[in-house]
Amino acid sequence: MSNFWQVYNETAIGVGFGTAGLGGNTYSVVQLALENGFRKFDTAEADWWYNQAEVGRSLQDFYTKTGLEDCIDLQISTKIPPWSLTSVSDIRRHASTSRNELVGFCEDRQRNQNDENDHFSPIPLDVYYIHAPRCWSGWHPKCDNPPSTLELKDAWKAMEAVAGIDHTAKRIGLSNVHPAELLDIIHWVQHRIEAGETYPPPRIPDVLQAYADPINTAAELRQICEDHGIEFVSYSTLGTQHRNTDENPVLTSLVVQHLAEKHQRSVAEVVLSWALQNNMSVIPRSSKKQHIEELARLLSSPTFLEEEDLLAMDTLSNDYVSEL
Ligand SMILES: NC(=O)c1ccc[n+]([C@@H]2O[C@H](COP(=O)([O-])OP(=O)(O)OC[C@H]3O[C@@H](n4cnc5c(N)ncnc54)[C@H](OP(=O)(O)O)[C@@H]3O)[C@@H](O)[C@H]2O)c1
Repeated sequence: MSNFWQVYNETAIGVGFGTAGLGGNTYSVVQLALENGFRKFDTAEADWWYNQAEVGRSLQDFYTKTGLEDCIDLQISTKIPPWSLTSVSDIRRHASTSRNELVGFCEDRQRNQNDENDHFSPIPLDVYYIHAPRCWSGWHPKCDNPPSTLELKDAWKAMEAVAGIDHTAKRIGLSNVHPAELLDIIHWVQHRIEAGETYPPPRIPDVLQAYADPINTAAELRQICEDHGIEFVSYSTLGTQHRNTDENPVLTSLVVQHLAEKHQRSVAEVVLSWALQNNMSVIPRSSKKQHIEELARLLSSPTFLEEEDLLAMDTLSNDYVSEL
């Protein structure tokens, strides 16, 4: 456990709030999440799944009421969709537009001691991700007829400019990549660093956002992240990717329900504690007040599973079953 706290405190591992699929409720749900203490939010430029403009409007209204100076605590991540990876300049422009939409209202006020005037510096996004290297059929209406786009490595160079030249985002990341693709990018960046390349400053992904839950644990991707100091952000951790079953096999698991009773926490909290204790950041999403309040308990008490509980959780995973 001490190892977990060391990792938790020294890296960006933490609890955020996801905003996919909230539709017309996006504004009010983000308000509720803010009122309950969330300061880390995940969104994306891909409309239909996300409503980034409403996330930005909700953040702005909240901080306009409570005090704009506090908005520097916000950690906002968003993603460029595959169909927008059309050129280096397009990628840099998308990042800048998203930054404005989400945190443009919040500028860092710095007083220059030699100058009576206040200076305002732009607040960057926390993470700008490539949502996916390429479109896949059925993911989004725009994937039905996608434009011609850059190869992943060329797109990644634009991302390096977003962080290292434009400073639009503090960190850059990938999402929905295969282990081989992630390793390929890491090795290519390392090679450019060794070759002395400086423009844009070569940079391995700071963050990987990928699907992981107690059944599908993304073990290979997580190992690569651990080996290379990359933050792993788990999405759909609460089991929402199991669409072909009548009930959510993660939240209805008897193991999870037993641990919820044992610790007097909700089933969602058990699953998210499991993820955090396995060095994943989490970004759960809910549209219900009671559920948001439950999720917010993780902000002050993120982990509570004991060693034996974690072993019991391991029995849910496909990796575990295949090793028997
Ligand atoms: N990079 C990507 O391609 C990608 C893909 C998917 C998701 N994401 C990101 O990851 C975030 C989370 O993933 P997700 O939206 O798929 O789903 P999720 O957070 O894993 O699960 C959401 C579901 O869990 C339920 N839930 C939440 N809190 C609960 C609680 N306390 N008790 C019981 N049920 C609870 C919600 O229902 P209620 O609304 O009824 O509470 C909702 O049905 C997204 O919002 C998005 O930001 C990224």
